[in-house]
Amino acid sequence: MLNTKKVIVYIAQSVDGFIAKKDDDISWLSLVDAPDEDYGYGEFVGKVDTVIMGRRTYDKVLSFGVDFPHKERKTYVLSNSRKGSNELVEYYSGDIKELIDSIRWSNGEKHIFIDGGAEVIKEFIRQDLIDEYVISTIPTLIGDGVRLFKETESESKLELLECKSFPSGLVQHHYRVLRENDKQV
Ligand SMILES: NC(=O)c1ccc[n+]([C@@H]2O[C@H](COP(=O)([O-])OP(=O)(O)OC[C@H]3O[C@@H](n4cnc5c(N)ncnc54)[C@H](OP(=O)(O)O)[C@@H]3O)[C@@H](O)[C@H]2O)c1
Repeated sequence: MLNTKKVIVYIAQSVDGFIAKKDDDISWLSLVDAPDEDYGYGEFVGKVDTVIMGRRTYDKVLSFGVDFPHKERKTYVLSNSRKGSNELVEYYSGDIKELIDSIRWSNGEKHIFIDGGAEVIKEFIRQDLIDEYVISTIPTLIGDGVRLFKETESESKLELLECKSFPSGLVQHHYRVLRENDKQV
């Protein structure tokens, strides 16, 4: 059977390309908070059974002091400084291609959510492991901080699958990564 599990980055950035301010402040994301509008997030996470995030992103999520949002999903936190697991996540320091291969063939058809941050995304790009990106751009310039795409020697060709804009000014691009045998349509 053809495995349809995809590795998907779903993330929000400022217009100037940052995912957090220098001090990790992400309160500017709430500029686009709107009643009854989740920008497709609920539908997206409903199609995901595995989440992968960096240790810094995990610490940020914990700092919110709310219920961990991925209790229902298998969550791996990439870290070289932490080992083992807790009731929420498993720490992982091995080869990420091996991790993706093992998840791809062991779980069902639901997708793998790469939650970020930038360091993790850079490593996934370097190893050509990302299949799709959903990037929500928030209408603000924050000037400095954690850049979504760190400098890398890798190039990826993308096909735009969808572009949606919302009354709040958020613009969401959905891209597929094109590989050698893919035809752009
Ligand atoms: N705007 C958004 O939608 C969004 C989404 C996600 C995150 N963020 C923000 O982005 C910031 C964090 O991003 P970041 O790039 O600084 O950090 P990050 O990617 O979240 O985490 C970096 C850490 O992950 C571990 N790591 C990364 N690659 C690894 C690998 N291949 N093997 C083992 N461990 C690995 C290391 O942990 P150790 O140091 O433990 O070894 C590293 O210090 C936070 O402010 C967060 O709030 C924003």
